[in-house]
Amino acid sequence: MVQAVRWEQGALSLLDQRLLPHEVKYVTCADYRQTAKAIADMIVRGAPAIGISGGYGLALAAFEAADRFKASGDSGEDSAAEHFLKHAASVLISARPTAVNLSWAVERVLGKTLSALAQGGITHAAQAALEEARAIELEDVEANRRIGMHGAALIRPGSAIMTHCNAGALATGGWGTALGVIRQARAENKVTMVYANETRPWLQGARLTAWELMQDGIPVTLLADSAAGYIMSLGKVDAVVVGADRIAANGDVANKIGTYTLACLCKYHDIPFYVAAPVSTFDLSLACGRQIKIEERSEQEVLEFMGKPVAPAGARAFNPSFDVTPAELISAIITEKGTVFPPLEKHISAVVK
Ligand code: MRU
Repeated sequence: MVQAVRWEQGALSLLDQRLLPHEVKYVTCADYRQTAKAIADMIVRGAPAIGISGGYGLALAAFEAADRFKASGDSGEDSAAEHFLKHAASVLISARPTAVNLSWAVERVLGKTLSALAQGGITHAAQAALEEARAIELEDVEANRRIGMHGAALIRPGSAIMTHCNAGALATGGWGTALGVIRQARAENKVTMVYANETRPWLQGARLTAWELMQDGIPVTLLADSAAGYIMSLGKVDAVVVGADRIAANGDVANKIGTYTLACLCKYHDIPFYVAAPVSTFDLSLACGRQIKIEERSEQEVLEFMGKPVAPAGARAFNPSFDVTPAELISAIITEKGTVFPPLEKHISAVVK
């Protein structure tokens, strides 16, 4: 299975997803600044994968702090290290706004690092930071496996499944959330075809999802995003499974732009619409999806295709990277701790604590 994020020889190695499917090349992030830039520049994608990267980014900051501030035992050095670590955490967290896994992972590693700093100094704290970042990665591998098991139970034999964007190995620490469900269901001989929407403007469906599934020998058909409704009307789609970037307490889901459209289409065509995500993607501090900050990216991403203009000079564009699907359109949210069925608002707290 392809690994998007690796810790290697004291640095973070990220598969440069901007080059896929044509080139498999890893780039090295030697410090937290490079890590934050790699996240902002879309070298690494997908909520869990950017969370894992952020965790390792903070471990890099802790090692830098250990070099700078040494383990003098002097409390002035420790407070300088604390200040440095908090600043690094805020730089990492602000790299991308929508996926909550980023702040969740960075804050988790920061918490462990600061308590280790108080107990045993900065060298000890750096080791603790790395251990926590590794734990987040390993937990995500296991979460993906469990999401796959829970989700496959919802898929009927002979199903064609549609997915959107990339919620596979490239977007997580393991075999994926939505693609984890598809992989497990395929292993159980339940999946006949995967329809992957191309996912304009970054083409995660074409460049990442189709590539991943073809490597596994899973049959995949690529669709222009605008073909989704027609193929549903032909009765060719049995379920839609997508990932998530942030899920509010009432079950509203932020995910890649176009997800909401698919959920509406599923409602009209009476097709189950499933969301697969680890509990780290829930943000129970937000009552509903309207409170989720939606990343808006550059107009150029829409006005151009592969670096060439596709619109008249001077045309304007609107480029939200995510949208919010209301809970009432979601058939179930599949997590590693079990599946949440409607009414989501009532049932989420039993699974996500
Ligand atoms: O902008 P991206 O490529 O980071 O967006 C990725 C997505 O929206 C994924 O569908 C989502 O993060 C779920 S990942 C398991």
